[in-house]
Amino acid sequence: MDILKIEHLSKTYGKGETAVKALDDVSFSVQKGQFVAIIGPSGSGKSTILHMLGGVDRPTSGKVFVDHTDIHSLNETQLAIFRRRQIGLIYQFYNLIPVLTVEENMKLPLLLDEHQVDKKQFSDLVKTLNLQDRLNHLPNQLSGGQQQRVSIGRALISNPAIMLADEPTGNLDSINSREIIDLLKMFNKTFNQTLIVITHDERIALQADRIIAIEDGRIASDEVVRP
Ligand SMILES: Nc1ncnc2c1ncn2[C@@H]1O[C@H](COP(=O)(O)OP(=O)(O)O)[C@@H](O)[C@H]1O
Ligand SMILES: [Mg+2]
Repeated sequence: MDILKIEHLSKTYGKGETAVKALDDVSFSVQKGQFVAIIGPSGSGKSTILHMLGGVDRPTSGKVFVDHTDIHSLNETQLAIFRRRQIGLIYQFYNLIPVLTVEENMKLPLLLDEHQVDKKQFSDLVKTLNLQDRLNHLPNQLSGGQQQRVSIGRALISNPAIMLADEPTGNLDSINSREIIDLLKMFNKTFNQTLIVITHDERIALQADRIIAIEDGRIASDEVVRP
């Protein structure tokens, strides 16, 4: 089943002389449970793709279907709700809320939806992420690896359709990078959680089921490594 379908996606930032065509007619689909790595030079449009398919920003043209919903046909309020429930976003610099504790950061997407947190699911997630002794800490009291584990928890708390990670290990040393990728892979393999990771790290890309290379806003190659 295709959990994600992108059709003729283009994105131009700015207007007139300063306009930048960041994406130029990109189309691809991703099957549920697939682990996709997106690679390519700096400035090639990788983050732009993630922002379009995560509903963070709107394309200039083209469509994005997440689990059959045409997400850019939604209004801003609907899109914000959809994003919170169906998209798990992970960034290089974690993007945690500094004044909230680890527990509050992780539960935030559900609390914003006024959804109760399933206690068992929460404690299982906390244990898997090895954060049980850090729940009342603030983000600045944590190491980079721990902060990224919190952001993985926040991304997964609402059981999203897709998990999107933009250079999730870009700020981490090799031991922490490995731990973060192993966790993402574990959720991908054990729970069939669809995972799209932008990375510069060839060792990470080679662990994916499929590698999409982007150059100048277009798909330069798209290879399934593991069927
Ligand atoms: N908000 C923005 N406003 C203007 N130009 C942007 C914006 N975001 C990205 N760009 C430009 O779009 C192109 C693709 O950027 P990006 O998707 O961030 O590339 P990558 O993630 O592959 O490094 C670059 O030329 C970049 O400068
Ligand atoms: Mg980028």
